[in-house]
Amino acid sequence: MATVKKSPALPVPARRQWFRRRLLDWYRKHGRDLPWRHTRDPYRILVSEVMLQQTQVDRVLPKYHEWLDQYPSLEALAAAPEAEAVGTWYPLGYNIRPRRLHAIARESMARHGGELPGDEDTLRSFKGIGAYTAGAVMSFAFGKRTAILDTNVARVLFRVFIARDEPKSHAMVKRLWEFSRALLPRKHVFDFNQALMDFGATVCTARAPRCATCAMRRGCASYPHAPKARKRTAR
Ligand code: ADE
Repeated sequence: MATVKKSPALPVPARRQWFRRRLLDWYRKHGRDLPWRHTRDPYRILVSEVMLQQTQVDRVLPKYHEWLDQYPSLEALAAAPEAEAVGTWYPLGYNIRPRRLHAIARESMARHGGELPGDEDTLRSFKGIGAYTAGAVMSFAFGKRTAILDTNVARVLFRVFIARDEPKSHAMVKRLWEFSRALLPRKHVFDFNQALMDFGATVCTARAPRCATCAMRRGCASYPHAPKARKRTAR
C-alpha cells in the first residue's frame, strides 16, 4: 500500500472551482430531500446532526419527527426529565447523545437566553459538539462559511484529490480539514456541505463506490482504481 509522506498540496483555484460546480450540479439533480434541509432552526439542525453522528439516515428519519413533536424547542427539552429524553431516544442507542442534548438544552436556557449560541467556540465548549457538529450547525443554521469533515467527507476528498487508499493518520485528517476549508464556495455553503455528505453516502461510498456513473470521475485521483462497484444494496 502506498504511503503518503508529504502533505498533499491543496487544489489550485481552477480545480476547486471544478469540484464545486460538479458537486453542486450533482446535488441539485440527485441530492436527497431530507427534513433538516428545510429548516434553519439551530435546535432542529443540532438534533438532526447529533442523531446522524452514529445512526443512518433511514433510522434517524422517524425518530427526528417523534423527538421534535415531543420536544419542539430547547425550552421544551430542558423542561423534560433527562430519563424521559433518554426513553424518547430509544432505540437509536449511544444514549450519551440524548443526555448531552438535554444538558445543552438546559445550559442554553440557563446561560444563553434560551438560544443555541451562534459562535463556533461556544458551541465546541458543549460536551457532545465536536468539530464536525459545530461546523454543521454553523453552516446549516447560522449560514456561516464553515467547513465540515466527517468520515464520509474525508473519504470523498481523499479519493478525489489525493489517492485511493484512505490513511487514517491524525496528520491526514488535519490536512483534509484544510482541503474542506479551501473548497468551500463563497455562496451556497449550505448546499455545498449537504452535498458533500450526500455524495459520500450515496456515490463515493466506502465499499461500493459508483465510479462508472460518477460526475467526478474524469478529475478523480482514484479513478479508475477505486474498488469495483458491487451490486446496489438497499439503504
Ligand atoms: N450525516 C451527517 N449529517 C448529515 C446530513 N445533514 N444529511 C445527511 N447525512 C448526514
